[in-house]
Amino acid sequence: MKPGPRADTPISLCLVNFHLLTMVADRGSFGLIKNGAVAIADGQIVDVGETRELGKKYFARARQTVDGEGRYLSPGLIDCHTHLIWGGSRVKEWRMRLEGASYEEIARRGGGILSTVAATRSTSAEELLAGARKRLKRLMDEGVTSVEIKSGYGLDLENELKMLKVAARLRDSANIDVFATLLAAHAVPPEFRGKADEYVDLVCDEIIPAAAESCQAVDVFCDRIAFDWPQTERVFQAARRHSLALKIHAEQLSNLGAARRAAEMGALSADHLEYLDEAGVKALSRNGTVAVLLPGAFYFLRETQRPPIELLRQFGVPMAVASDANPGSSPVGSLLLMMNMACLLFGLTPEESLAGVTRHAA
Ligand code: NIG
Ligand code: FE
Repeated sequence: MKPGPRADTPISLCLVNFHLLTMVADRGSFGLIKNGAVAIADGQIVDVGETRELGKKYFARARQTVDGEGRYLSPGLIDCHTHLIWGGSRVKEWRMRLEGASYEEIARRGGGILSTVAATRSTSAEELLAGARKRLKRLMDEGVTSVEIKSGYGLDLENELKMLKVAARLRDSANIDVFATLLAAHAVPPEFRGKADEYVDLVCDEIIPAAAESCQAVDVFCDRIAFDWPQTERVFQAARRHSLALKIHAEQLSNLGAARRAAEMGALSADHLEYLDEAGVKALSRNGTVAVLLPGAFYFLRETQRPPIELLRQFGVPMAVASDANPGSSPVGSLLLMMNMACLLFGLTPEESLAGVTRHAA
């Protein structure tokens, strides 16, 4: 916490008598401040402490005061990995999976991500916006104040840009922070079947340069049903040329060593990680790369291999938790449920789970 505001700074809002879950690491469990208060000026938190202390400083000059009457108050929740914008439905695949087909088999038969690509291409921006708005509202109703949204169901210049435009419209119209990620390297589109390298050329030479102004990060699905490491590396190099952050869907279905290599390139996060090995964990730790855990996808795909939580803890890797909201592998609209699943399915503590959707998601 920086030193408090100047004595004459007008305080727009003072929150008093809340138990504050500050999530400040060296303050013990949840960074709890009992009977705490928060002083806010112009939408910015300027001081946090005990109500007794802060009351003396700010009561008199606060324009508005809210009494929490002993309720708990946490930072706004952050969903740092979503695919919230899509067209169509994958409900038929849900039935196929119940009947025994795997996510991978469905993808190899041209379903999965590619079926959502076909539907998204033929859906107008207006309709995509309406669908995404509903999903976003559900997240916001449970306290989500920041969300990351990926493209990745367009897979050509026009439709990737269409998705990013929808993300920008959500940012402008909803009371929530929206961070956009370009995921043009999500799957090889049908018109490039068998020519993945040529599609990667298109991503690097045309899509990234055209999209760079409309996104903050570039993501790649690096796995045996998507892109291999050399292709991923090329996409990351192009992203770097445009000063975009790097993210990766890695070690979800197999261990390709992709999280390790992405961390060595300075990736912001590596996500999924069910098959991550010790060398990968060490690389995340050394490079300050966040491990993003996606228990919704683990649950819906009926995975049995869990991410190596104990190793991640041991090497002090920050663990975020996110919804991965998408129509195929994680058809969910609740970050609170993901926090619950992170505890029950992956063995996170409640403190780790809340840190995963606040501090580390940030
Ligand atoms: O994070 N793994 C790749 N991509 C998404 C799934 C997207 C989809 O199935 O439509 C994921 O699980
Ligand atoms: Fe994802």
